[in-house]
Amino acid sequence: MSRLIEILLEEHRNIEKLLRVLEQELDVFDRTESPDYEILQAVVEYLQDYPESYHHPKEDIVFEKLKLRDPSAVARIGDVEAEHQLETKRLRRFAQAINDILAGREYPRQSFHNVVRDFIDHQRQHMHKEEQLLYPAAIKGLRAEDWAEIDARLNNKKDPLFDGIAEKKFAVLRQEVLRWERETQASR
Ligand SMILES: [Fe+2]
Repeated sequence: MSRLIEILLEEHRNIEKLLRVLEQELDVFDRTESPDYEILQAVVEYLQDYPESYHHPKEDIVFEKLKLRDPSAVARIGDVEAEHQLETKRLRRFAQAINDILAGREYPRQSFHNVVRDFIDHQRQHMHKEEQLLYPAAIKGLRAEDWAEIDARLNNKKDPLFDGIAEKKFAVLRQEVLRWERETQASR
C-alpha cells in the first residue's frame, strides 16, 4: 500500500480517538448537563487546526490525481472537497455552541446535543466513506508515476505538509487531551 494511504489511515485513527472523547463528554452532558466544556473546546480546536491544515490537503492531493486517472470512480465518490467544507461548517457551529455556553448565553439542551451528535456522526461517516471508496479507488487507479510524485513530496523535508514538525506538535497535543480526558473521567 502507498505510504500516503497508510498515513491517512493512521490520521483517521487519531481523529477517531478524539471523536470518542467528544462522545464521552456528550454522554456526560446527556446525563448531568455538566461536561467538561474546556475538553470539548480543546478537541474542537485540535480538529479545526489539524485536519484542516494537514489531513484534508493530503486527501485533496489523492483526489486531484484520481480525477485525472479514474473520473468514473470520482463520480461515484462525489465531491470530497465539498464534504470537507461541510465538515468545517459543522465544526464551526460546534465551536460557536461551546463559546455561547462558556460565555453564559442560553443554549437549548437538545440543540447542543444535536450539534455535537451531528458533528461526530458526519465525521465518522465521512472517514468511513473515504476508507471504503476514495482510498481503494486511489490504490487501484493511480499510476506508479503518481505515487512516485507523491512519495517525492513525502520525502521532501522542506514540504510543510510532510516535514514532520506539525505531526510532532499535534501528537503532543493529542496525548495531552487524551490524558486530560482520562483524568477527568477518573475523577468523576
Ligand atoms: Fe479523511
